[in-house]
Amino acid sequence: MPQFEFHNPVRLLFGAGTIDRLGEEAARYGGRAMLATGRGSARDSGLLDRAVALLDDAGLDVTVFDRIMPNPTDEIVDEGAELAREQNCDVMVAVGGGSSMDAAKAIAVAATHDSPAREFLKPQDRAQPTDATLPLICATTTSGTSSELTPFAVVTTTSETMKSAIRSDYIYPRAAIVDPELTLTCPPSVTANTGADVFAHAMEGYFSTHANPLTDLFAERAMTLVGRHLPRAVDDCSSLDDREGMALANVYAGYVLSNCGASALHALEHPISAHYPEVAHGAGLAAMMVTFVERYWDRDPYRFGRIAHLLGRGIAGAAFEESAEYAADAIQVLLSRIGLDIRLGDLGVERDMLPTIVDDARHYMSTAIEKTPVELSREDLIALLEASFAAE
Ligand SMILES: [Fe+2]
Repeated sequence: MPQFEFHNPVRLLFGAGTIDRLGEEAARYGGRAMLATGRGSARDSGLLDRAVALLDDAGLDVTVFDRIMPNPTDEIVDEGAELAREQNCDVMVAVGGGSSMDAAKAIAVAATHDSPAREFLKPQDRAQPTDATLPLICATTTSGTSSELTPFAVVTTTSETMKSAIRSDYIYPRAAIVDPELTLTCPPSVTANTGADVFAHAMEGYFSTHANPLTDLFAERAMTLVGRHLPRAVDDCSSLDDREGMALANVYAGYVLSNCGASALHALEHPISAHYPEVAHGAGLAAMMVTFVERYWDRDPYRFGRIAHLLGRGIAGAAFEESAEYAADAIQVLLSRIGLDIRLGDLGVERDMLPTIVDDARHYMSTAIEKTPVELSREDLIALLEASFAAE
């Protein structure tokens, strides 16, 4: 067995009611907090007021920055960073989904360095965060991106139509609050999209050159939990048991993502939602996932056979390899159950943009493409997108 390394420094607070520890966690790192969140849902659900009260009770001065949009931009990051500097904030607190957490990480960097956010996102010669980066506490309201457990902040650079990630150990959150009760207000479509993202993180990490025995363990468990709990969470948003199952799946997938990174599907999805910001990240992934597995399951029959079994579609009593050809079907059934049996054309992607999407992926996300244990040429990637464009 080759050597491997496994690392995740984030203190995890998991379970119903852990949000109540937000104030004490943030107070460990300073007295002036910026609370970063999205434009509506935390305010509408009452969570924003609750979070402010928790921070206030812990003795923190709170500056609220609630302008973060889905697929956040470098401009909104720079705006938040300027406010954080003006208010002398010494700790960032993110309450929300992946967009809020990723933007908060990028604000933690941009507020403490002389360069604007785009300098940390360039494909070449990018600025690197230092230990001046503000400490960050994350409380996630979706079971999706695992941003609360990763060293990545995905941000779109508006001037370049480029969606890329800051990658740095300095943006690992100091603590992740994963309180499944916070996800009870997540609507069915967001539950489905973010759940598809969890599955992609686990599957891409499982079929990655960076997989190791520990990430395999987490990836298999994450895919099992998604198969069991995601359809039920979409059907009945108020089911705490299923919300807890998905929250745990998201944690497991976070350990996979933080150690393996993403691979080809994420490399292709980022330029899609950079050019089409209305496309939800998980929906973009879902549109390509089945085609990807149909084309490449035979490159690792054991692993894809395992996936078929984990989703309840394996051949009983047979070697895992014999079930590999059913993995794509198993994933399609799962996606159908959550309303995401979709293709890129359904999402508004234009067919003549497919080569541009591939060129952007190769330019900005080459590392992720290289983690896919398949030689993927420009033509292969275009063919993958063409096959994902419309149902046959
Ligand atoms: Fe993702």
